[in-house]
Amino acid sequence: MAELEGAKESISFYVNGGKVVVESPDSETTLLYFLRTQLRLTDTKLGCGEGGCGACTVMLSWYQEGVVTHTAVNACLAPLCSVDGMAVTTLEGIGSSRDLLHPVQERIAIARAHGSQCGFCTPGFVMSMYTLLRNSHAPSEKQIEGAFEGNLCRCTGYRPILEGFKTFSQTGCCGGATKCCMDVKSSDGIKTIKGPSILFDASKFRPLDPTQEPTFPPALRTEPLIPLAIKGPRVSWYRPLTLDQLLVLRARFPQSKLVIGNTEIGVEVKFKGAFYDTLISCSQVPELNKMAVTDEGLTVGASVTLTRLEEQLKHLVESLPENKTRTFSALLEMLRWFAGQQIRNVSTVTGVIVMDPSFFTGYKKTSIKPGEILLSILIPFTKEYEFVLSYKQARRN
Ligand code: FES
Ligand code: FES
Repeated sequence: MAELEGAKESISFYVNGGKVVVESPDSETTLLYFLRTQLRLTDTKLGCGEGGCGACTVMLSWYQEGVVTHTAVNACLAPLCSVDGMAVTTLEGIGSSRDLLHPVQERIAIARAHGSQCGFCTPGFVMSMYTLLRNSHAPSEKQIEGAFEGNLCRCTGYRPILEGFKTFSQTGCCGGATKCCMDVKSSDGIKTIKGPSILFDASKFRPLDPTQEPTFPPALRTEPLIPLAIKGPRVSWYRPLTLDQLLVLRARFPQSKLVIGNTEIGVEVKFKGAFYDTLISCSQVPELNKMAVTDEGLTVGASVTLTRLEEQLKHLVESLPENKTRTFSALLEMLRWFAGQQIRNVSTVTGVIVMDPSFFTGYKKTSIKPGEILLSILIPFTKEYEFVLSYKQARRN
């Protein structure tokens, strides 16, 4: 393809271990639509369709620089083209061959912990928990709660879901591995209060065996990524792999939209009548994925996801003097209130945090001219007597 040398016009990826190739895909198709209508994998649900409920959560896995990364995403917003070269795991892809259930499913869905009522949210909760366990075999209770920030349940009130899943935590509580929060200390030692607070008998749960999880497709470790140039019926999707390729495309299509997680553009297109005929995915451009600590502060590439940024900010807040990191702490506080885990896993600092008023000219308006790109932003260190506080104000009553 002239605009992007060596680009391919098809995509390939793995779903639950099986390879899927789509010739000339429609660039407007979402991963959720494809899973449900083309592959008939209907365990992944469509709730809100805008990244707000988590019913469509799936796990995406990819290989980069010797590391396999697993992340939970909202399939309702993920463009199908964006999963080229990745592995997708849905609820149908987990569980044992003996009874088809994974311990995560058993503990919530078989009412061992009474965490499923109508069941519509259950696949999303299961996939969020499953992804967390793929990344950490012994998560803390805080990590477990954090993993569900993007999952809504209208039936259960969350307590049975959380208590069931907290049994995976090594810190233990309410059925956990060590002791229950209803234990009370008496003069003769620790005594357990039994009563209506006991939702289940955790000793009946099957243990989690991480060695039994499906392996990451070996082919994805060796197959190199290839640039994409997909001409859909209405929308073209490009995926450059270098900064030069991105700049050439941007010059060729100055009005194009740059897309990373599709969390803003996807909602605009679906619900606000927006239409963009040329989308350029920047997620694989190395220069845009870098973070660097300099004398001035932290430089954050435009494609760095909010989850990666959060991890880096936490590390800097813990390791640097407090007076240098007050902006970082303020940003961490804001990230707590920004969307759910699945959204933060794919959305970027560029799309949502722009701090210079000469750059941010109004709601959803920036001073970027057609043909230009934002390479990175600098989050400066604070000075000794500089203080930063952050508040969130919603644009609705
Ligand atoms: S369907 Fe609600 S987040 Fe995707
Ligand atoms: S069980 Fe009904 S929405 Fe969660």
